[in-house]
Amino acid sequence: MTIQPSVTSAPLLTIEGLRGGYGRVEVLRGVDLHVNPGETVALLGSNGAGKSTLNNVMCGIYRAWAGKVLFDGSDLSGAHYTDVVKAGLIQVPEGRKIFPNLSVTENLALGSFVRARERRSENIDKVFTTFPRLKEREGQLAGTMSGGEQQMLAIGRGLMAEPRLLILDEPSLGLSPLLVEELFSLIEQLSATGLAVLLVEQNVGQSLEVADRAYVMENGGIRFSGTSDELLGSDELRQAYLGL
Ligand SMILES: Nc1ncnc2c1ncn2[C@@H]1O[C@H](COP(=O)(O)OP(=O)(O)OP(=O)(O)O)[C@@H](O)[C@H]1O
Ligand SMILES: [Mg+2]
Repeated sequence: MTIQPSVTSAPLLTIEGLRGGYGRVEVLRGVDLHVNPGETVALLGSNGAGKSTLNNVMCGIYRAWAGKVLFDGSDLSGAHYTDVVKAGLIQVPEGRKIFPNLSVTENLALGSFVRARERRSENIDKVFTTFPRLKEREGQLAGTMSGGEQQMLAIGRGLMAEPRLLILDEPSLGLSPLLVEELFSLIEQLSATGLAVLLVEQNVGQSLEVADRAYVMENGGIRFSGTSDELLGSDELRQAYLGL
């Protein structure tokens, strides 16, 4: 008998039984989720479902009450956010959170704080190739840029951290339809380079077009998980979870 080599690769990110909240209020009630290497996964759910809390807890910004965060062979449960960033689990947070009184280049440089200084200018060049509009404004104060430009900067700053998995929390918020189109094609472009993406979005239809799989969060837990085709293909699921 010949033994076939295993072709299943381990997930890049595995979240198990993650619980957390604010004060005594529990928001995450035991979340299980995984992202495979190179996968784009949509994290959907209504306002207040707990998506941003999940991102912040798994990235070490808020402490987990219980559960595990396993990333790329390391146990990041309870890790400081600096170690999470070093491991390559990078979040572009909701609301961008760029530094308004620093220039474009200074904001980008801050994104690479855990990476070797020698690679900084090479990485800035790569970001400028992806976003020529940022190059044109390299000395401009970030706070004076348009909403779309600020979103590009936030993503560019995330890329400066050399992510293995990029979490994008509502990247299309406040962008015009044309810029939303551009953003989704950028996500496809990044994904084509082998980068894994966890995409939190209210633009459900467009997200499912670029995502391989999706999770739907409700009231601090995962209510559905499956392929994008499964979600879109079932009238019942679409109506129950997506309002489509
Ligand atoms: N810093 C905080 N302090 C107290 N409660 C918070 C805090 N941040 C979020 N919450 C509460 O936790 C719950 C989940 O919020 P969260 O921001 O994770 O939802 P979300 O799914 O990201 O929603 P949205 O789609 O509106 O961004 C909400 O009830 C919210 O009011
Ligand atoms: Mg949110």
